[in-house]
Amino acid sequence: MTSLTRRSVIAGAAAAGLLPALPSRAAPRKVPFGAAIQSDLMNGDPAYRQLFVEHCDLVMPMNALKFDLLRPTREIWDFDPADKVVAFALEHGKTSRGTCHVWWGATPQWVKAIESPSEAERVLVEHIERVGDRYKGKLLGWDVVNEVVANDPIYENRSLRDTYWLRTLGPRHIPIAFKAAASADPSAQLALNDYDLEFKGPHYDERRTIVLSIVRQLQDANVKIDAVGLQGHLYADKEIDVDALDRFHRDLDALGVKLLVTELDVIDWKSPAGPHSQDRTAAALVTRFLDALFSFKPPELVISWGLTDRYSWVNDVMPRPDGAPSRPLPFDRKLRPKPWFELIENRLATV
Ligand code: XIL
Repeated sequence: MTSLTRRSVIAGAAAAGLLPALPSRAAPRKVPFGAAIQSDLMNGDPAYRQLFVEHCDLVMPMNALKFDLLRPTREIWDFDPADKVVAFALEHGKTSRGTCHVWWGATPQWVKAIESPSEAERVLVEHIERVGDRYKGKLLGWDVVNEVVANDPIYENRSLRDTYWLRTLGPRHIPIAFKAAASADPSAQLALNDYDLEFKGPHYDERRTIVLSIVRQLQDANVKIDAVGLQGHLYADKEIDVDALDRFHRDLDALGVKLLVTELDVIDWKSPAGPHSQDRTAAALVTRFLDALFSFKPPELVISWGLTDRYSWVNDVMPRPDGAPSRPLPFDRKLRPKPWFELIENRLATV
């Protein structure tokens, strides 16, 4: 039995509750693995916090750096929760990164009430410069824009998502945001981050094409963009297009842009119920996804959107209709590693 196989057996037994969790990794990772942490849960749940200390190279705030939480009103700036997460990461010798300056889901009401384009631009630039400057040198980089591609570009007959920023500033809000981020922290790795970039079908082909065209337009205008983040919310009911993903990775590379996996998890609401079959589905999906990415070259880093099934947006936003608990993340609700953690460990160690 090779040590990898033995580890699989041990992990399987641990996942089934027969053995304690794996104490440490077999081989060092060549690609860093990280996870997003919920700052509000860090203090109340020490075991949750410890899981990140033990298993992550990078720990980033899941929500605390989003616009509406940092600046809920024009007068109030609340850096405390994000400061805590970034300090926690750095104190434990880990890196961190920021998400996100521009996101339709985190635009505060007071901003949406601004009608004047010049005022909106001022507020956006001021926000990015102030926040970027505060965390300068502490974060590897930023998702500068998050989810700017239209959800279904073919059906909607548009490239960009209809958001406050698009309606008020037009497509130029994207270069405005990237320029402000670069001026605040010139060495930060600046990314465009988006979802639904890995599946099969014309809708997803179109989304990949739009991302590439945004990158080219920024570059043509001499605006720095360093990376594209694939969120990697993998749906059990959608097919991953291995060839298209490989092509997309090569196309980005040809443009000199890095590929990051930024929000990996599994949405298993439409898959056969039961821990074993949900975990099998998840492991197969994650394997296919990573194999497709790694076939050209490894991504820069792999980040999962949380670590434990105990806390995940999937439980809240896409619960299983049959009421069975969802199993989106690499550790289960009791903080035991699941097969897809083992698989990540092996994949990131063997590039
Ligand atoms: C989600 C968080 O996980 C939740 O805790 C929060 O309430 C809403 O945002 N795509 C993204 C992430 O880019 O920022 C979202 O995170 C999940 C989907």
